[in-house]
Amino acid sequence: MSDAAARPGPAAEPVDVHPAWLPPAAFRAVGSRRALVCGAGTLVGTVRDELAQACARYGGTVAWRPGPGPVDGTGDVDLVLALTAATPLPAPVAEVAAQCRRHHGAGALGAEGFALARTGDVTVVLAEEPAGLLHGLFHVVRLGESAFGAARGPERHRPAMRLRMLDHWDNVDVHPVMGQVERGYAGGSIFWRDGSPRGDPARVRDYGRLLAACGVNAVSANNVNVHATEARLLTDRLGDVAAIADVLRPYGIRVHLSVTFAAPVVLGGLPTADPLDAGVRAWWAATTRQVYDRIPDFGGYVVKADSEGQSGPFTYGRSHADGANLLADTLAPFRGVVHWRAFVYDHRQDWRDRSTDRARAAFDHFAPHDGRFAPNVVLQVKHGPMDFQAREPVSPVLAAMPATRLAVEVQVTQEYTGQQRHVCYLAPWWSEVLRFAPWGDHRTVAALAAGDAGEGGGLVGVSNAGDDPFWTGHPLAQANLYAFGRLAWDPRLDPAAVLDEWIGLTFPPGPASGHDLVRRTLHEMMDGSWRTYERYTAPLGVGFMVRPGHHYGPDVDGYEYTPWGTYHFADRDGVGVDRTRASGTGFTGQYPQPWRDVYESLDRCPDELLLFFHHVPYGHVLHDGSTVIQHIYNTHFAGAEEVAALRRRWDRLDGLLDPGLHTRVRERLDEQVRCAEEWRDQVNAYFFRKSGVPDARGRRIP
Ligand code: GCU
Repeated sequence: MSDAAARPGPAAEPVDVHPAWLPPAAFRAVGSRRALVCGAGTLVGTVRDELAQACARYGGTVAWRPGPGPVDGTGDVDLVLALTAATPLPAPVAEVAAQCRRHHGAGALGAEGFALARTGDVTVVLAEEPAGLLHGLFHVVRLGESAFGAARGPERHRPAMRLRMLDHWDNVDVHPVMGQVERGYAGGSIFWRDGSPRGDPARVRDYGRLLAACGVNAVSANNVNVHATEARLLTDRLGDVAAIADVLRPYGIRVHLSVTFAAPVVLGGLPTADPLDAGVRAWWAATTRQVYDRIPDFGGYVVKADSEGQSGPFTYGRSHADGANLLADTLAPFRGVVHWRAFVYDHRQDWRDRSTDRARAAFDHFAPHDGRFAPNVVLQVKHGPMDFQAREPVSPVLAAMPATRLAVEVQVTQEYTGQQRHVCYLAPWWSEVLRFAPWGDHRTVAALAAGDAGEGGGLVGVSNAGDDPFWTGHPLAQANLYAFGRLAWDPRLDPAAVLDEWIGLTFPPGPASGHDLVRRTLHEMMDGSWRTYERYTAPLGVGFMVRPGHHYGPDVDGYEYTPWGTYHFADRDGVGVDRTRASGTGFTGQYPQPWRDVYESLDRCPDELLLFFHHVPYGHVLHDGSTVIQHIYNTHFAGAEEVAALRRRWDRLDGLLDPGLHTRVRERLDEQVRCAEEWRDQVNAYFFRKSGVPDARGRRIP
């Protein structure tokens, strides 16, 4: 039996880690208050410690009343954070509690919610559970001085989604092709290094703190592609996972684990992993019990089954419902969940076969099983039918399974969106997905993920963080991590407002002037950066065109004759994938109305998805009046120019920001400029050579 204590792992070298959105100055407003914390428990202790640190720096004071009864200083406070159970509540808090009860009934704040009010000279945060108090504290931090100004509330704040999880595609061993972190662009893993725990609990703690401060409440600590060593985290290396859970617990973050479906064979020595086999069921039940013995608040399993070479129930002639329910049954007594991924498709497709359509696969595999999944199965569905492209339609699976708990999966790590070398603020993209109305009415994707009363599968993101001193490689990619948490908490938030919050916290106004310029410049650079990225890469929703394997930079035909099912079908006459019912793969038929007809129709299909759904001649005229070929030229010239402008804007901030951060971003912008020009030239040259149609504006195409 080996565990974390037995194998400490290599010690990480000390580095100056960037504080991201929690620099000390973000706590200036709360740190100068006379604060009182009422309540007990680990997370209440975290609240108190956070305040104590801030007060030590900014001159405030903190009193703590863990149990009933008065304590010195409770009469003279201007910030109170209290649990409803911490009776007798100080007068202003009791009043807020009474108002909450009157308006919303008892229990209305839930496990993580809080009420915020400003009455008289006191700011009150009230929560029913300790996690709510912690979220309330970070909300006050976000508000800064404005939390201590005019009277307000009581406002009720509750997360829209109960599960707000980041999946780490971190390997324990360094994988020969994928490295320490699969699709990781921020150095190594926060958790693992060279086969062992990374040995830096302080870093893990800081990570948990950042996540709690933006609203994330769960983390899966290892890659969905479960290699030999990661598999053992479930059994003889469980101690390594428990150590992570111990560090993240004070920030209200639960740990989940990716497991291999073949575990009974590869770990248990059984002859089969058949989900209906009694021995297999007993093995999972016993193994899961041991996990909970060690980690009582363990979140559950994440499973990538029958996908890209991972084992699954198909091997045994069983369905995905059989497979998922097996694990769900073993987790249910402990209130754990299984996140079962819907990313199942044929990755050994014959490119000559036009009838097979990868976009159809998830729906074809899963929709027929709606209603057959146990209540603690969360079907984790990538937001689009393909694979985290810069533009895809919303996955039709999300509208097809009303009797299944669904989670929407987005990719915070920028595999297909510039790999954290390009500025690409993704919140506008996620927001579009979350606001999408699959039936054209009030029901949105966000509402599906939230479920009735927050009981849905929630939002899952593939983390973009690593052991890089800036956390995310590109310092501006921190905004994506922050925005993920904020949108999971409240999907209605405006992405520009979320960016504004992130800017305000990360680059707090200091003694040096120029804060307005920083704020303005970052908005100019980031608000529209996803659309800029879209302009200079694959056109009109067709996707891919990236270099196979590492997926960085242009390669128009890179995937065209491969088994991966990601084609654009460009020839001398036209481009795009015919996914219509009339003449193509029939994928449009997987959508409910109105979209099945909107996408089917060449006239009504939105331009940005035209080539996802239709194969059209280069002369096809878009809604904006330009032809497809001219659109390709125009957007590629424009996209590269926009990147050049980003680069120039950044120079304005020289001297206003931390020099290390400024230099890091400048270097990445230089690379983005180079890469965007490469995209422009390769895509334009490719389509000019295929079509023979010159640019109407006579610009140079190599
Ligand atoms: C993409 C990605 C893989 C990853 C997979 C997944 O295909 O390139 O690295 O394993 O998604 O989501 O499972």
